[in-house]
Amino acid sequence: MFNSALVSDPSDGTSKRFSVPIVQELASQNLRNLPQRYIRSEKERPNAFPLHHLDIPIIDMDMFWGDSDLCRQKELEKLGMACQEWGFFQAVNHGIPVSLTERMKGIVREFIQLPLEERLKYKKQEREGYGQSFVATDDQILDWADTIHLATLPPEKRKMSFWPTQPADFRETVDQYAAETQKLGNTVLRLLSENVGLKPDCFINACGKMGQMMRMNYYPPCPRPDLVLGISPHSDGNGLTVLLQDDEIVGLQICKDGEWVPVQPIPGALVINIGDMLEVISNGIYKSIEHRAVTSIDRDRISIAMFYGPSKETEVGPVPELIDELHPCRYRRFIREEYMRRFSSDKLDGKKNIEFVKIKS
Ligand code: OGA
Ligand code: NI
Repeated sequence: MFNSALVSDPSDGTSKRFSVPIVQELASQNLRNLPQRYIRSEKERPNAFPLHHLDIPIIDMDMFWGDSDLCRQKELEKLGMACQEWGFFQAVNHGIPVSLTERMKGIVREFIQLPLEERLKYKKQEREGYGQSFVATDDQILDWADTIHLATLPPEKRKMSFWPTQPADFRETVDQYAAETQKLGNTVLRLLSENVGLKPDCFINACGKMGQMMRMNYYPPCPRPDLVLGISPHSDGNGLTVLLQDDEIVGLQICKDGEWVPVQPIPGALVINIGDMLEVISNGIYKSIEHRAVTSIDRDRISIAMFYGPSKETEVGPVPELIDELHPCRYRRFIREEYMRRFSSDKLDGKKNIEFVKIKS
């Protein structure tokens, strides 16, 4: 039942190994009492505060490909506002075939149905593989989720030993989806650049050589969803995330003005959000927003996040064109790897990672 997560300690560069259960196996045991390690403190629990019922903005990507300049301009403004005020939006008519998004969820479903032994052939080591993400200490509270975490782009960064060979089309499907989400990511980055008066390729250039990571999240049913979180509050540490989520089960919640807002799934839509790197590159115009996922008592949930952004060698900082007397530089420059090291070895904890590059006024 146990999976060892190998985690490197940022302070001294050594590696430690922690034993972390595969949650799916725990969930299948019909436990009457949850193991202590999953139980959140009162103030972290899903219902600690009332939820806010708002809807995150919906952006119709067709408007950017159509003939009407007026419609395009209106949708661009809406997109800009969404990324400034919400840091999140749902993209509809995004151009990625529904057959491909459905198959992506299908390969996760088929993978988790494989015998445990088969799944553990890909068990997590350091950042990649199957198991729990973000385990930093052997006493931290754990998330109620298993993940498959893989580097997807550029293709030469792929560690194929972590890529399942079952289902048979796993690799080919992820390869196609990685390319499609990269294209969509570039489109959004160009629009966001244009929206703040920059040349369309400005943000893409500021990202340097780009890379993409994928995290497939599997949230098993939980006998006490009121006590656990599927994924701890965090902001994403990359440029832009494209999240494909279950069509029915509400799990994702985003923090809007201090309150948690559930993201209602729209079948066929993709949830897109700003990560820390784009917040920095845009000098804080676009916001990387804290979010988390909750679980359900009788239904499992699958989501697939594609994280796109500067690769580890890139020096990241606000684009100079966005800095002037009225808009002083708000973040220091840093090498992405420095940031990533903190992000992947630490447990998830809200937005504290970005604090580390903020220039205090
Ligand atoms: C993530 C994430 C949310 C979800 O993987 O970074 O925020 O709904 N996932 O699974
Ligand atoms: Ni996230």
